[in-house]
Formats: sequence, structure tokens, C-alpha cells
Amino acid sequence: MNDLLTVGQCEADQLQSLIDLSLALEEKPKPVLQGKNILFVFEKPSLRTRVGTEAAINHLGGNVIQADPLVVLETEQDPYESRESIKDTMRNISQWCDAIFARVYAHETLEQMADYAEIPVVNALCDKHHPMQALADMLTLQERFGREEKVALTFVGDANNVAFSLIEIALKFGHDVRFTGPEKYYWSQDQLQYFGLLAVDHGSSFTHTFEPAEAVKNSDVIYTDTFVSMGEEHMMEEKLNHFKPYQVNGKLMEQANNGAGFMHCLPAHRGIEVTDEVIDHSNSWVHQQARNRMVVSKGVFGWLCT
Ligand code: CP
Ligand code: NVA
Repeated sequence: MNDLLTVGQCEADQLQSLIDLSLALEEKPKPVLQGKNILFVFEKPSLRTRVGTEAAINHLGGNVIQADPLVVLETEQDPYESRESIKDTMRNISQWCDAIFARVYAHETLEQMADYAEIPVVNALCDKHHPMQALADMLTLQERFGREEKVALTFVGDANNVAFSLIEIALKFGHDVRFTGPEKYYWSQDQLQYFGLLAVDHGSSFTHTFEPAEAVKNSDVIYTDTFVSMGEEHMMEEKLNHFKPYQVNGKLMEQANNGAGFMHCLPAHRGIEVTDEVIDHSNSWVHQQARNRMVVSKGVFGWLCT
């Protein structure tokens, strides 16, 4: 593994090895990143990904350099609109740094970066994927249920980056994955077919429905994310209307198994996709997920940079 751009690029045992290394480095920190410079390039805001990962890198003796995305990433085709090409910035950065951690709008930007960089590129979230979140969520599920139990996990809401990576990792680890969301903002046929194939290959299951109450029945965990992702602000009003029936509230949680857990990658919009009573309940694991964002960053950068 040279880069980490998606969950899909990794086999389940590779993902488990990253989690195992993360736990080992968390328990007994070693200066494995001593003398290493990790470049952070963020086109969008971040709390957990940016601070959690910087803290992880500091714990392992490494150094973070924050870069201006407008300087590093070519955003315009016209050479005079953009400062310089990604090809040139990646070649230069590769001579000074040991890895790049990038949060971008378009997944294609990460692919270009990885093509030209001679150092690992790690996806800190893009429009289609959020692999670091998925790793932290899998660690959280393993801490809650152990490694052997098949968990019934239902994602309620938008067919977005977080949902995609979560579904991929949960299917690769053999879980019973369900999805519910409004028809207008649903997976494509190709994506549904991909989830179905992953399930067949990994002895897991994938089902989906437009009916939230049906989806959460017999679920051990309910997961949601914002209904309006970064970059979609112009669609807010229209999206929120379609997503109203998909709010995770006490009534929806009652349809799930007794004691079902609640997960959210955060930031949460309280009163929109989730109510206070659910996110503040003792069965809400959102802060454990956030902590695990730091933990899995140790394994990922420890693996890629040494
Ligand atoms: N979950 C997550 O990625 O949070 P941030 O956007 O704050 O990094
Ligand atoms: N789906 C959200 C996740 C934020 C961590 C977004 O892309 O804005």
C-alpha cells in the first residue's frame, strides 16, 4: 500500500493490520515518525481530522506542515488562473516531505496528487470517500462488540462520502449492513451493485429501503451524518425537505434493538439529522469515534512513513 485514498483499495486483513498497528502505537507510543514531515493540505474546514491527526503525528515524534491549498492544488485549467500545476507541486513536495494528508473537493484531485507524488498521499475526506473515518468507526465497533460478532449496522440519511466508506469497511468485515435514505439522493445502480458484490465476497449482507422504520428494525447500531455535506450548501433547503423523515430521534431509536448504539462522524447538526436526546444518550458513541480518529491516524502514518 503506497497511498490510502479509499477503503475499497484495501483487503480486510490490511485494514485490520492498520487497526492493530494503531492500537499498538497508541498503547506504547514509539518515535516512528521522528524526523518525518507530513504536509496537510485542506480545501475544506476540519476539526477531528486535522487536530486528531496532528496530535497523533506529534505523539509519534513527527512534524506537521500546514500548506495553503490554493498554492498546492491546481484549481483552474487556465495556467494564469492557477498558480502552478499539481504535477510540479507534487514533485517539489516529494523532495521535502514524507507524506501528504489532503482534504479536497474532488476525488480526482487526490488521484492526480497520488500519480505525481513520490510520497504517500492519504485521503482526509473528499466528495466520495472518508477512509480515515471508516477505520476509526471499525475500531469503535470492534471495541463495542469484539471482533467476532456480526453487527447489524444501519446508516440513515445521505448516500455520501462517510456512508460509502463505512458501508465498504463494514461489508469487508462481514457485517449485516443496511441503508435508508430518500430516493432523490440515493446510490446509483452501479454503487448498489458494488455493495451487493462486496457482500457476496465477504459473507456479509447489504439491504436498503426508503423506509427508515423498516431499515432500523433489529439493528444493533444506527449511524447518521449531516444531510448537507461541505460544498453542498447551495442545496440545503431542497435537501433538508427530502431528509425530514430520516431524522434519528428517540422514536426511530425505539424501533431498533434494545440498547442499540448511535454513531455519527461529527460535526452534527443537532435538531436536524439527530436530536439531542439521541446524541447525548449514554448509548451514543460519537466521542469514542472522535477519539479513535486520532488512534487510527497513528497506524496509517506509522505504516506508510516507515
Ligand atoms: N468527522 C470528521 O471528519 O470531522 P472533521 O470534519 O471535523 O474533520
Ligand atoms: N459528509 C460530511 C462529512 C464531514 C466529516 C461532509 O463531507 O461534509
